[in-house]
Amino acid sequence: MSTQAEYLALVHEVAEHDRRYHVEAAPTISDVEYDTLYKRLEAVERAHPDWKVSWSPTQRAGHTPVSDFPKVTRDVAMLSLDNTYNEEDLRQFFDRCVKGLDGDVPVFSVEPKIDGFGIELTYVDGKLTLAATRGDGRIGEDVTSNVRLLRSVPLSLANPVEKLVVRGEIYMRKDEFAAMNAARLAAGEELFKNPRNTAAGSIKQMDPAEVKKRPMHVILYEVVDGERIASGHIASLERIRGMGVPVSRHDAKASNWDELIAAVHAWEHRRDDLPYELDGLVIKVDDFAQRTALGRTAKFPRWAIAYKFPARQVTTTLKSITTYVGRTGAVTPVANLEPVELSGTTVSNASVHNWDQVKRLGLRIGDRVLIEKAGEIIPQILSVTEPGPGPVVEEPKTCRFCQSDLVREEGRVALLCPNRLGCPAQKLGAIEFFASRAGMNIDGFGEKVVQQVVDAGLVTDVADIFTLTAIQLLGLERFGKTSANNLVAAIAKAKDAASFSRLLYSLGIPNVGSVIARPIAQKYRKLSALRAAAEAKPSDEFVAELEEIEGVGGTIATNLDAFLRDANAKVVLDKLAALGVDPEEEVASAAGGVLAGKTFVVTGTLTAPRADVQKRIEAAGGKVAGSVSKKTSYLVAGADTGKTKLEAAEKHGVTVIDEAGLEALLTAAPG
Ligand code: IVH
Repeated sequence: MSTQAEYLALVHEVAEHDRRYHVEAAPTISDVEYDTLYKRLEAVERAHPDWKVSWSPTQRAGHTPVSDFPKVTRDVAMLSLDNTYNEEDLRQFFDRCVKGLDGDVPVFSVEPKIDGFGIELTYVDGKLTLAATRGDGRIGEDVTSNVRLLRSVPLSLANPVEKLVVRGEIYMRKDEFAAMNAARLAAGEELFKNPRNTAAGSIKQMDPAEVKKRPMHVILYEVVDGERIASGHIASLERIRGMGVPVSRHDAKASNWDELIAAVHAWEHRRDDLPYELDGLVIKVDDFAQRTALGRTAKFPRWAIAYKFPARQVTTTLKSITTYVGRTGAVTPVANLEPVELSGTTVSNASVHNWDQVKRLGLRIGDRVLIEKAGEIIPQILSVTEPGPGPVVEEPKTCRFCQSDLVREEGRVALLCPNRLGCPAQKLGAIEFFASRAGMNIDGFGEKVVQQVVDAGLVTDVADIFTLTAIQLLGLERFGKTSANNLVAAIAKAKDAASFSRLLYSLGIPNVGSVIARPIAQKYRKLSALRAAAEAKPSDEFVAELEEIEGVGGTIATNLDAFLRDANAKVVLDKLAALGVDPEEEVASAAGGVLAGKTFVVTGTLTAPRADVQKRIEAAGGKVAGSVSKKTSYLVAGADTGKTKLEAAEKHGVTVIDEAGLEALLTAAPG
């Protein structure tokens, strides 16, 4: 590239493809072509750092965490909206508008009220200069560095005006939110409550790497001082749409009461068609002059109102309560319900959190209960709408699996079975967790199989898993030669593939999560070495040694120490050692590596052994998966790659690269 003008044209080209993809959802080039353009842009910027402009698509990412979001004071306050919940209240709003306009009936726009997080974007000469939160309306926070990370936010506008201030909502798509929560559930992490809180929390994350992991989008729905670019609201949204900004749906226009109420009802039916959660509609007077005439109250504009939809909840009957004992000994109640439809699935169980909650709700068998889905996936009981005839549900006194007296740990709400390494339910849970995706990731070793091998007496603890033979499995129901051999092979594979940190986490020691397992494993490198370190000194010294590791606090250190010294645990750990399960942890260099957060599928014939290629990807922080899904970032296709994989990649919009492409990613500057 020889001139900066050519560079700027390339910036424009890539930004335009970003807009087509992220704003219009209608890309005009393939991902591979896009990647090629993007890489060329990066290369030019490396060669001519002085040409670089802030609105280049490469410049979205900040790398260093911020410590604080500066406050910004705005000229025009971000007001909130008055709410209505029914036709009657809406009619009053309509009548107030007409009266305020001396009998003129205004045109209204009826828009989805996106359940997200309010944001204000400022563009000066077409360039994004500020993204601010609502804050108290007048004073917000400058979250520009994080908002720049959202690819639906244009950094540069087409057909710009001198100054443009637009307001909108940052939101998460329902499907992306549910997928994120499902992944968190599988990884044993706490679930996010709802898309709105999660979007709000995410945009205020201090660490841009964390922000990038949260799938967020933006929709704009108001132009501040819109009369400078159009005479009415709908026309102003059209104008900014022409500038490349993603705008709210504004196709419902109403010029009288009948049209208004018809538009409202039409949206009620279309509520589920949108990819994001609506909590209602916003009804706005279109004409800016009429808006001025109507004015505002201290808190709300008089020209707009929210029409809130009822929350998505249903009632059903409580049939019984089952007590579960998890792998950590927590004894939790689960409600068995008369099956009922809720947000697209049939629900027959609901979580009640804990026994305090049972008491608070005053549950009786036969109750009519109101339920909703928390975090889009887990149904839970909110309240009793009609008491049932049955007895009040009482908290159990003993564990139904091992008859131990249940205890309540100080400061914790959970009821516990204290028989940690002896209770059959906890043992079963521990084995299930060990074999699961989140744990040692043994393919085909799900809950049903665990139950079978435990029932048959083949497995009594996690170490026994590694002694299973195909002959033993053949004796079990539903196992044939192939499936038995596959499972034995999967166990061997998991044993080879696991790192020490994964093994440590899979053991299910209380408070030793997957994140903290890493630095612990980094320090001791092997389970045998960790055990030797514990044995070499008294408890208090070893606990102190553990506490020197960054992130390891007293609870983690004490629990790990207690586990290593527990007689029952020792038996299992000795068995693991005798079976040669003692993987070594690789020294970290990959955290925040160039491929962090990316998932690869490697296929076809490559010039290097596939295992080596996988190792290199992992060493750079990437993940390697076996099959192509929508979570895959890249398919690395060697010679003679099968058609099925390529078709799967196409279907999920996965970028296909060859070995050279992978090489380029591996050697790219961190980012
Ligand atoms: S207009 C003065 N339009 O709802 C009018 N707001 O409860 C400003 N919201 O703070 C708001 N979708 O965060 C408007 N299409 C839409 C909206 C919308 C969601 C949010 C917004 C606002 C809140 C009011």
